[in-house]
Amino acid sequence: MLEEVLEANGGDMIASLQIVQRTLVGAFAVVILSVEQPDMIYAIKKGTPLVLGIGQGENFLASDGTPLVQYTKSVIYIGDGEILRLSAKDFQIYNSDIQEISHKTSTLEMELSMIEKDGFDHFMMKEIFEQPKTILDSMRGRITADFSEVKLGGINKYAPQLYNANRYLFLACGTSFHAGMVARYVFEQWCRISCEVDVASEFRYRKPVIHSGDAIFAISQSGETADTIVAIEEAKEHGANIFGICNVVGSTISRVSHEGAYTHAGVEIGVASTKAFTAQLTVLYLFGLKIAQSKGTLSPEQIKQYNKELLAIPNQVAEILKMSAEILEISKTLKDAHSMLFLGRGVQFPIALEGALKMKEITYIHAEGYAAGEMKHGPIALIDENVPTVIIAVKDSNYLKVISNIKEIKARKGKVIAIITKGDKDIPGIADHCIEIPETSDALYPLLTTIPLQLLSYHTANVRGCDIDKPRNLAKSVTVE
Ligand code: AGP
Repeated sequence: MLEEVLEANGGDMIASLQIVQRTLVGAFAVVILSVEQPDMIYAIKKGTPLVLGIGQGENFLASDGTPLVQYTKSVIYIGDGEILRLSAKDFQIYNSDIQEISHKTSTLEMELSMIEKDGFDHFMMKEIFEQPKTILDSMRGRITADFSEVKLGGINKYAPQLYNANRYLFLACGTSFHAGMVARYVFEQWCRISCEVDVASEFRYRKPVIHSGDAIFAISQSGETADTIVAIEEAKEHGANIFGICNVVGSTISRVSHEGAYTHAGVEIGVASTKAFTAQLTVLYLFGLKIAQSKGTLSPEQIKQYNKELLAIPNQVAEILKMSAEILEISKTLKDAHSMLFLGRGVQFPIALEGALKMKEITYIHAEGYAAGEMKHGPIALIDENVPTVIIAVKDSNYLKVISNIKEIKARKGKVIAIITKGDKDIPGIADHCIEIPETSDALYPLLTTIPLQLLSYHTANVRGCDIDKPRNLAKSVTVE
């Protein structure tokens, strides 16, 4: 198309790109090299990210800041409809009316060391082990010293819209969607208000009913997921207020949201999301407590108690990480599995889904996550001695029901790997393998139960010889719909 338009416009690249830009449908980022101007690069974009890195005597283009940090920290985020002309020495940016515009330069808030493996074999493992710190970082400065209050610096002008919303809706994809699912359980319990959660790519196309008083949480590690961005646009058109929960500072979702809070997980390189997930949970818990406090649906004592328990989580995660070698031994038994089930009830159901997603992403073992109560409605047919089940069986309000599930699986000769609360005397006698985690309150358990599942997937992928940081067919940021 560009060649034809160029010919019709006497070779004027900028004018031609303006036409092409307006003609193209959908989301794109296009970088153009012309044989006529070998020292020049042109670029246009809509919907998907494009970052210009400004170096000394050299300039760069990338789809996010991470690959640029080893060359420069000065970046410009190119906007939709803009046209960029770039050489090694300088650059010009034009708006859609072909007027040259100037952009503020942003500084990347990351260090090269953040994108190195620090002695770990894989980024995923490094990131799993960073979680005591990243969970703490995501709470840092957000809980008052006396534990009585949560403070969210990113919520200002839109605080009334957040606290008085008629409904909370969580939109996201993949792992971030699972964080939204956890939040739905927790917000309903703590804030006593109607909550919904939806996969962003489904939300837009099911003609959703959105009211102007709805508060939407858009959850995304990268902040660049095209499906989530499009869903936000749809919701905004209907007057909803958008609260972004993103990890990447300055990313598209953080910019198109009305307000929000960053997770402080640091750069996540592994395609399989780990520390970003627990950081998202942490920030969502803080939002839940803040809203419950404002609504008075939790008492000041309950808020204090939850805040104290949240602050204890990083050390508890560190304790679980010490069991990595033990979990490796369990992973060896999964080396040749073709299919697995992951089960959980209540707030552990999304964690079962997340455990299954992690397992399938990096080990290529077919893994299904199910609400444990659904087992007898179908999936139980899959169970035999060759289909191992991972079941989250911590001592929460669903404990006794989950024990029944374990017995049903064992009666069908299924192998059971159970995530249990430390000191549990009953399940070790029934399950084949148990992984013990420390105790916390029901709502906060997901921050702990997810850790052994991450390690289980990691070690299983490793014993199967999989390329853990770059699993086949997957990209870290899914910037296309
Ligand atoms: C998780 O391990 C995934 N690779 C994937 O599901 C991811 O969570 C999803 O694509 C959403 O990404 P985001 O959080 O950057 O929006």
